[in-house]
Amino acid sequence: MKYTYMKYLLIFALTLSCYQSSYSKSFKCLADTATAGKTILDEDGKPVNAHGGGVLYYKGVYYFFGEIKKGNTWLVPDQHWEDYRVPAGGISCYSSTDLVHWKNRGVALKPTTNNPGYDIDTSRVIERPKVIYNKETKKFVMWMHIDKNDYKYSRGGVAVSDKPWGPYQYIGSVKPNNQMLRDMNLFKDDDGKAYLIYSSEDNNTMQICLLSNDYLKPTKHYSRILINKKRESPAIFKYSGKYYLITSGCSGWSPNAAAYAVADHIMGPWEEHGNPCKGPNADSSFYSQGGFVLQVANKPGSFIFMGDIWNKLDLEQSRYLWLPIRFVKGEIEIYN
Ligand code: GAL
Repeated sequence: MKYTYMKYLLIFALTLSCYQSSYSKSFKCLADTATAGKTILDEDGKPVNAHGGGVLYYKGVYYFFGEIKKGNTWLVPDQHWEDYRVPAGGISCYSSTDLVHWKNRGVALKPTTNNPGYDIDTSRVIERPKVIYNKETKKFVMWMHIDKNDYKYSRGGVAVSDKPWGPYQYIGSVKPNNQMLRDMNLFKDDDGKAYLIYSSEDNNTMQICLLSNDYLKPTKHYSRILINKKRESPAIFKYSGKYYLITSGCSGWSPNAAAYAVADHIMGPWEEHGNPCKGPNADSSFYSQGGFVLQVANKPGSFIFMGDIWNKLDLEQSRYLWLPIRFVKGEIEIYN
């Protein structure tokens, strides 16, 4: 009896230590591949080109979507901020089962060429793509920020596909409730409802807008949050019944201090907290700009802050910074 008890205790202890070591190992691998200026390589040994992106988890596979930044960087004339640009390369897709090995799944959303009047032409701005799956329509739905070189068009574009990796069919763009939409994210809640979260009102205020049941259109139901706080690059996640929203300040491609807010209901009220980044270089978010928080599958409470280390003078050379989020006494903390 005593022996059996001891045996189970040992098995339990071993399982726990394996779990813990693979848990920290997977985070270490992520940090190794992605920290401060390092390139993430795909399975062919080529740099992963997926910036300002987001991850969809579907049937055991992570799909990483991002902006394809390729070609010479140029500065748009007569703008009062760092309006550095490359031609819009469309949206890439990479897949992985372990968040370490990435397979290039090709171009998920292909831009058009020589069609400057069209939203997804290479001459336009296609940024911050995110994808969610709609169980009812069985479609993968991508939303993104569509703009022109001066960033005054400020609309949300939507595209759909039957497969997670694409190809995505572009449907069109919209100003939700006639409001501007720039840096954006998508969030699918536990009840299947989905929301767009975006910098609006000339980047002064964020908005959260409920999407239609098919996720293809904004509804009239929206709220204004972080009013006049001038935040962008929203990264939202939910843990233990609370919503968390990490944002950056507005300084173009140059890094700044992050901040986060917490809410019991997605539409608010949102309670503002300080910078979740801690330690050296926390005031520049470790030289990065967060843009997405990834929930690690089957590991409750495991979330990864995904940031971009922008190289504004050569945007193609931008890198990634992925770091685990720690929950400490009701606060969140991120260390490099
Ligand atoms: C940043 C924004 C990027 C991009 C850039 C253009 O603030 O987060 O997605 O739009 O400005 O300068």
